[in-house]
Amino acid sequence: MKDTKISIVRGDITQRAVDAIVNAANSSLLGGGGVDGAIHRAAGPELLAECRTLGGARTGEAKLTRAYNIRQAKFIIHTVGPVYGQHGGREPELLARCYTASLKLGAEHGCRSIAFPSISTGAYGYPVAEASRVALAAIGHFVAEHPGVYELIELVTFSERDERAYQTALRERSGAPPRSGPA
Ligand code: AR6
Repeated sequence: MKDTKISIVRGDITQRAVDAIVNAANSSLLGGGGVDGAIHRAAGPELLAECRTLGGARTGEAKLTRAYNIRQAKFIIHTVGPVYGQHGGREPELLARCYTASLKLGAEHGCRSIAFPSISTGAYGYPVAEASRVALAAIGHFVAEHPGVYELIELVTFSERDERAYQTALRERSGAPPRSGPA
């Protein structure tokens, strides 16, 4: 059985060649700004039409659509992250659920590769240092419980600062010493 590769990359998630791209949506699932806006622009109006049939989603849930004009992916998985400070301390649990629910849904549809954005760390205000640890812990647990289901799980960051935060969180999990040198 092949190991799952967990990879941190920087760039535009709409360009990733993976079976499923995850969208950091809001509970309407009808589009918005940030990565949600970028995904809807790239996928085209048919995506919004399918999203209208989904009836929204609650925080921590995930729903799947086709990817339409994003030709190098098969599916888009729409998940709703927590708004930081608005869930009475349940934010880490809800954020972890976004990752777990998305991975489960993708696996149910035969996905072998998936790309996540940094859910909740833009408009929803979740500090990236904390969010990256929650993300990698949730992904790590899923992979341990479902070995070999995914070949590749990507975390797609948009800024160098975010990329560093995820790399630090990944190193912490793998037990490697922190990287020395300029911050
Ligand atoms: N590729 C990868 N990452 C991106 C891209 C992109 N094309 N564009 C932005 N990001 P956000 P949230 C990064 O605000 O915090 C929307 O309006 C961005 O720099 O998109 O979960 C929804 O409709 C940041 O690091 O998502 C909701 O209302 C990360 O994606 C709300 O925002 C997430 O930022 C969701 O807020």
